[in-house]
Amino acid sequence: MADMTVIDKLIELHNLSKAEYLELLQYREDEEAVGRLQAEAVRLRKQYYGIKVFTRGLIEFTNYCKNNCYYCGIRRGNPHVNRYRLTRDEILECCRQGYGLGYRTFVLQGGEDPYYTDERMAEIIRAIKTEFPDCAITLSVGEKSCDSYRLFKEAGADRYLLRHETADESHYRSLHPAEMSLANRKQCLFDLKKLGYQVGAGFMVGSPGQTLSNIAEDLLFLQELKPEMVGIGPFIPHHDTIYAEEKAGSVDLTLFLLSVIRIMLPKVLLPATTALGTLDPRGREKGLSVGANVVMPNLSPVENRKLYELYDNKICTGEEAAECRGCLSRRVESAGYHLVEERGDALR
Ligand code: SAM
Ligand code: FES
Repeated sequence: MADMTVIDKLIELHNLSKAEYLELLQYREDEEAVGRLQAEAVRLRKQYYGIKVFTRGLIEFTNYCKNNCYYCGIRRGNPHVNRYRLTRDEILECCRQGYGLGYRTFVLQGGEDPYYTDERMAEIIRAIKTEFPDCAITLSVGEKSCDSYRLFKEAGADRYLLRHETADESHYRSLHPAEMSLANRKQCLFDLKKLGYQVGAGFMVGSPGQTLSNIAEDLLFLQELKPEMVGIGPFIPHHDTIYAEEKAGSVDLTLFLLSVIRIMLPKVLLPATTALGTLDPRGREKGLSVGANVVMPNLSPVENRKLYELYDNKICTGEEAAECRGCLSRRVESAGYHLVEERGDALR
């Protein structure tokens, strides 16, 4: 095998330069290198989190979106989506079911839907916090003003997921319409950090046009932002987008990057994503075996699940919440880990 100083350096220093990340990526199919990175990632994950796996109950509460991200199945420009919104009471009912099943974090995710004004969002957050004071609330509702983020925080939100999608300006341009900007997305992430949220950034692996240099930029950006959570999953085409004929991202490269990110940010909360489970029937178990420590089962009402279709063939759209919890629990145990009933905050 070639000289692996760049791997030693990552393990020792937890950060690299862009040129070094590019060099590291050359090892992505080298069995020995992949094995070393994986072993170190698992060692760190066990040092900080033992064999615990945290669960987040995902509530996809609206599939309306004012944005038009070219890769996304529910973007505004797709006329074939049957749109839905959940009421405050329906969202609370999802939380009740979830609480009974052991969830202590609820993730409210949706398109950027102007129906949910800041005040409506704050009211939903307050209602959840009042009924479930021992639970964490994670929001994933896109780009807002710093004032909106502050209002949500004051209402009780704890965490925020906003993938940066790609840290390269021209790649960002090719995936999004002109009215969106990488600068604003990054600004949102820094605002959220400043406001005291536990923040999650991330990107799709194998998104259309993505190069290894882009991935190296993504890793550098994560190194700069130091998010508490990182969401990465393979890109999967959706039949009603301009990228319908593109290839899906690589499961192996996603697994490689999960290990790298665990080593870069040893205490990070790192989900084994649904997209990974969609491309490979054991994708989520594999994710846990290379450094991931979070799973995000679906708590949305079964009748809405198929309508929140970001990409084709999304798994877990037919099961009741209880079935999802049971299935995930068995999968997690089969990988040698244990699903816990805890908020699972980031270690600082
Ligand atoms: N609207 C919020 C936002 O923009 O952050 C949250 C919802 S958005 C649908 C959640 C994530 O889904 C995006 O950050 C994107 O990375 C991912 N996603 C969208 N389309 C996808 C696709 N075709 N394949 C894989 N992931 C996709
Ligand atoms: Fe808004 Fe995908 S374009 S959620």
